[in-house]
Amino acid sequence: MASITLRAAQKAYGDAPPVIRDVDLAIGEHEFCVFLGPSGCGKSTLLRVIAGLEDLSSGDLYIGDKRVNDIPSAQRSVAMVFQSYALFPHMTVYENMSFGLTLAKLPKAEIEQKVREAARILQLEELLQRKPKELSGGQRQRVAIGRAIVRRPGVFLFDEPLSNLDATLRSQTRVEIARLHRQFEQASVVYVTHDQVEAMTLADRIVLLHAGADTQRFGSIAQVGTPMELYHHPRNRFVAGFIGSPRMNFMPAQVVSLHDNGILVRLPATGETLLVAAQGNGVSPGQELTLGVRPEHMEIGQQGSHAITREVVLVERLGEQTYVHLDEPAGQPLVAKAPGDARIARGERLRVAIAPVCAYLFDGDGVALARTQVHGALAVAA
Ligand SMILES: Nc1ncnc2c1ncn2[C@@H]1O[C@H](COP(=O)(O)OP(=O)(O)OP(=O)(O)O)[C@@H](O)[C@H]1O
Ligand SMILES: [Mg+2]
Repeated sequence: MASITLRAAQKAYGDAPPVIRDVDLAIGEHEFCVFLGPSGCGKSTLLRVIAGLEDLSSGDLYIGDKRVNDIPSAQRSVAMVFQSYALFPHMTVYENMSFGLTLAKLPKAEIEQKVREAARILQLEELLQRKPKELSGGQRQRVAIGRAIVRRPGVFLFDEPLSNLDATLRSQTRVEIARLHRQFEQASVVYVTHDQVEAMTLADRIVLLHAGADTQRFGSIAQVGTPMELYHHPRNRFVAGFIGSPRMNFMPAQVVSLHDNGILVRLPATGETLLVAAQGNGVSPGQELTLGVRPEHMEIGQQGSHAITREVVLVERLGEQTYVHLDEPAGQPLVAKAPGDARIARGERLRVAIAPVCAYLFDGDGVALARTQVHGALAVAA
């Protein structure tokens, strides 16, 4: 009984334009749902609405099949974990974890059993008598999670719980949270982050939110889907640019001709042409579009007709991989991924192949053109 449904949800503060607009969303029982988006897009606000710490301006919120708009937070069977831990400094770990249960007047033996169980799961057994100031950041965050676990809520709400931790601890705790979720059969999790690696690795589904003018124009939700759906089938340019690191390269492109297997475009800055496996419905020759290609799909040193030529302006070696920055006459340098030891130097001119199935086209509103269903090899147009 822990699904969450938002219908036509809207939230505005005072007379300002709504920070949450037109949200229709259903989060299933036991689903791990991640709210992802740039700073200020309304992730925390939406989470606080579900928690009952903020009211919706209009629309409906259901937990299970019960409308909870007017139900106080304490009666919603939700537990929230904040970025700032929000532990009581004068209480021990044990007291912090048992506090909510004591307030709820549970029998002492039952409280003890629940706290010990949570402490065991989170490996906090040795630390139960310590005060928060005697703990590391990661331990404090585990106490905050423990305080949520003991309540056995139907819904866990996490607001950037890992952002105060260092990189190693962050990835450890990330794995820990994924493991915890598998242990709680019926609980659903809503997890807020601006870190796309956390979103990609933890989420069953990601809800990517627009910010600023896009929220007002298109509504809060940019796209909802599994991590790989958002990666492979971004609905628009914002999603395409937000998911993936380094981000997708964008270049202006002009339609030359339409074919069964895709659209042939010309890059006005260089006169080069490329075939993109996209459908041409509503597209006409001469139309201006934006071409998008991910760094991992720019194949350096490949010959063939699906290639462009660019000068290397910067080589970033990361060990396992190399990011090759290429001069782009039409704007920002392009980034291509190459193997760590690739023999590439600044000033070189490189052929970079772009497979038609790996390229995307976006119209003047940033909306992605539908993809051509490709079976087998692509014929070369023109
Ligand atoms: N109490 C409030 N009064 C007025 N405006 C608010 C209030 N709380 C949040 N906002 C505004 O609502 C918008 C969304 O804020 P929110 O905290 O939900 O963003 P967020 O996506 O969580 O961002 P971040 O990643 O920085 O935490 C912001 O523009 C913020 O300034
Ligand atoms: Mg926030």
